[in-house]
Amino acid sequence: MCGIVGYVGEKKCTDILLSGLKSLEYRGYDSAGIAIIDEDTVKIFKSVGKIQNLFDKVENEKSNIKNPVVGIGHIRWATHGKPTLFNAHPHTCNCGNLAIVHNGIIENYKELREELTLKGAIFKSETDTETVAHLIAYEYESSKDLLIAVQNATKKLKGAYSLCIMHRDNPDEIIATKCFAPLLIGVGENENMVGSDVPAIIGITNKIIYLDDMDIAVVKKDGVVVRNYNGDVVNKKVVELSIKEDSLNKMGYKHFMIKEIFEQPDIIRNALNGRLKDVHSNIVFPEIDSLQSDKKIDNIKIVACGTSLHAGIIAKYIIEDLTGVTIEVESSSEYIYRNNTTNSSSLVIGISQSGETADTITAMRLAKDKGAKILIITNRPDSSICKFADSVIPVNAGIEVSVAATKSYTAQLIVLYLFAIYLCEVQKKHTAVLREIKQELLTIPSKIEHILNNKSEIEGMAKSLSHYKDFIYIARGTNLATAQEGALKLKEISYINATAYPAGELKHGPIAMLDENMPVLAILIPNHITFDKMISNCEEAKARNAKLIALTSSNDERLEKLFDYIIRVPEVSEILSPLITYVPLQLLAYYIANYLGKDVDQPRNLAKSVTVE
Ligand code: F6R
Repeated sequence: MCGIVGYVGEKKCTDILLSGLKSLEYRGYDSAGIAIIDEDTVKIFKSVGKIQNLFDKVENEKSNIKNPVVGIGHIRWATHGKPTLFNAHPHTCNCGNLAIVHNGIIENYKELREELTLKGAIFKSETDTETVAHLIAYEYESSKDLLIAVQNATKKLKGAYSLCIMHRDNPDEIIATKCFAPLLIGVGENENMVGSDVPAIIGITNKIIYLDDMDIAVVKKDGVVVRNYNGDVVNKKVVELSIKEDSLNKMGYKHFMIKEIFEQPDIIRNALNGRLKDVHSNIVFPEIDSLQSDKKIDNIKIVACGTSLHAGIIAKYIIEDLTGVTIEVESSSEYIYRNNTTNSSSLVIGISQSGETADTITAMRLAKDKGAKILIITNRPDSSICKFADSVIPVNAGIEVSVAATKSYTAQLIVLYLFAIYLCEVQKKHTAVLREIKQELLTIPSKIEHILNNKSEIEGMAKSLSHYKDFIYIARGTNLATAQEGALKLKEISYINATAYPAGELKHGPIAMLDENMPVLAILIPNHITFDKMISNCEEAKARNAKLIALTSSNDERLEKLFDYIIRVPEVSEILSPLITYVPLQLLAYYIANYLGKDVDQPRNLAKSVTVE
């Protein structure tokens, strides 16, 4: 959701800015733009729609671009005002000498806009960002010092922001500042960059300074000076990242989503390697050991959104099953707007791939204010959410580029399974059962590989199912959240309506929708108490002419007769089945969307990091 890039150096910066924006486009956007200082003038180029339109615009104007070595760029996901050229960033002030890009939301922009209009500001857009451009310009008029102008202006802002500002009078610098929205500086040789996320700068450098809230950085080609809210210079740590370029490259796959689906077996292998030495040893979890304190924890809550929430629901089932400890799971956006029961004896676990999801960040802040212990499970241990954490468990999936989460879900799930086993080991419970589970965990990567090797069957099935407009997914037990996740994948990338229900709920309403136009996909786990019940539910659906799809490892003879399609997965115990059953659902969603020609990696209206509530 929105992305920022900035460059100061010796190279012509238009290409660097455009390629920085290109690496951020996975976050979701609907317009893009850059501003450069060239021939003593601030020049701005903007476009609506795909970033290619901006590339084309800059290419068409190249005779007017001489030697810009300072610039800022932005991709915008519309919040205030439609995705139009006027609303696209960078924004500027009346005289056009200042340019600004912004991520986040300025909550008091209406009041500021009224004040500034009275002072003569002429607004060209509907955005909150343009208010900041005029505000800084107004402050600059009196101080004639850009840094002081930014310091004064940001003191008047309420809300979340990361900002990059440049001015014609200071053609060798960018000013970068943030509050509740991420911003980092990439430190290079005779060049420095600013970015809202690592991919924006990784083509130039892997040395990073993470800005803290209210830091204001003056970034020049040969140095970066960061000051805090009081204006004092602060020494920032330069962190060297080991981001693999492979994460940002499709490596021959048609889409990032399918590439990331295929990375899943190795992600599980790596997670097991680090924490599961052998089936006789206890799970290694220093991040949880470090959470132990004199304070008694008597309730555990998991809070997350979307796919991460589904991982949390599965964790509830397995932890309660193995340990008997009650786990509450709640969507972050619900948790934060009610009088929930979190207190100083709570452990609140926030799960977030990006670590930038606004609702989950707010949830962690509120939980922390109530004295709870906070454990964060994230793919981005460098993200904003981690500052509320007493402990962070990185899931190590590598950068996930496709908007639809796949490999990060796998990585979250495996960590949560290991966490459940760890809790059980602390309780000294079910030792023999745990050994069996650990043994079976080691077989999961090859079982997923088996499913991936048979992808063409699912691809064929996807073709013949792609004309349906609605799907129902049903399951019982641990796989209910798998069904929810499968349905979410299908709707977000193919725009086909898919809803998941506990199979037992069908009769309580949804069955009314069933007819030959409503396929029902059922997850059936053999040798489980729910298997026959699932068969009955499917028979009820068949009686209403619904097309039936089974996802199962069962060879039960009733299946061939009952189901129109059967997706077979390798045998797996019920408790571990969510670690493999979601894979065919990811593939099914992918192949349907691909067959329909949808923009798989960047579905409409969606953003990779949902940084607004
Ligand atoms: C779905 C998807 C979203 C995210 C949700 C939470 O494929 O990606 O539902 O899971 O926006 O994001 P994180 O995990 O970054 O907090």
